Amino acid sequence: MSSALESAAATASDRRGASRPLLCAENVQKTYTLGKHVLPVLRGASLDVREGEFVAVMGASGSGKSTLLHILGVLDLPDAGRVLIRDRDVFRSSRRERERVRNREVGFVFQFYHLLPEATVFENVLMPCMIRHSLGSWWSNRAESRRAVEEVLEKVGLGGRRHHRSRELSGGERQRAAIARAIVGRPILLLADEPTGNLDEATGRGILRVLSDLNAQGQTIVMVTHDPNVAAQAHRCVHLRDGRVVADAEPPTARAGT
Ligand SMILES: Nc1ncnc2c1ncn2[C@@H]1O[C@H](COP(=O)(O)OP(=O)(O)OP(=O)(O)O)[C@@H](O)[C@H]1O
Ligand SMILES: [Mg+2]
Repeated sequence: MSSALESAAATASDRRGASRPLLCAENVQKTYTLGKHVLPVLRGASLDVREGEFVAVMGASGSGKSTLLHILGVLDLPDAGRVLIRDRDVFRSSRRERERVRNREVGFVFQFYHLLPEATVFENVLMPCMIRHSLGSWWSNRAESRRAVEEVLEKVGLGGRRHHRSRELSGGERQRAAIARAIVGRPILLLADEPTGNLDEATGRGILRVLSDLNAQGQTIVMVTHDPNVAAQAHRCVHLRDGRVVADAEPPTARAGT
């Protein structure tokens, strides 16, 4: 290993050693049943993520990566197993508490953006701020929320596009808007499901830079990807195989020029 690589690996491992556990998924199981067809997807998947880490999840198509990420983001329920976020057992909490975790502690970025096409970039990013508040508290917090939206749009390089409707944006810009929407509430955990999967290589690199910058500022990230060059940007890479997390290694080395 070159000294630069050794020092990068040492920094990642120091960071893991020094930081607190943030996410702990234990023996997560999920089976889909469609008529007579029973499809066990997750058969005891376990994953630990510490504060400040950037973890890539790889695996074949259909191996259950999105299923796992949706459960970690409290967008879906597991059949069995536990998910702890900062030591709180999310699926043994009340429904109200699960909604709080989903709306306040986790940010989710989808491969296909899931923006409202007719709403402007600004409105799309403001939406989670509105959902968080009751009508009364929204009224007293709206100036602060608008400032938070301006700030994250600058952070992802979309300051100049705030009044565009999202259908008027390029793919890379849509994904930047989706990242802004996911981080505007300062989530402790950012989950990204193939955030570059729908983009050309150069645009995907721009999105990865945004994610890497956020991570350098302390954002914990779990990102699903098919692409070893994308996974190489993370500190650590895990693989989903036969419904379990089977490998937990340093990320693959990026191809020259990526
Ligand atoms: N709601 C659902 N009902 C039934 N089966 C489902 C459902 N969601 C996913 N599956 C099945 O579960 C399996 C895992 O799906 P999942 O989307 O988690 O895979 P993935 O690893 O994310 O795949 P890809 O890399 O193609 O996105 C697939 O075979 C899929 O068809
Ligand atoms: Mg998927």
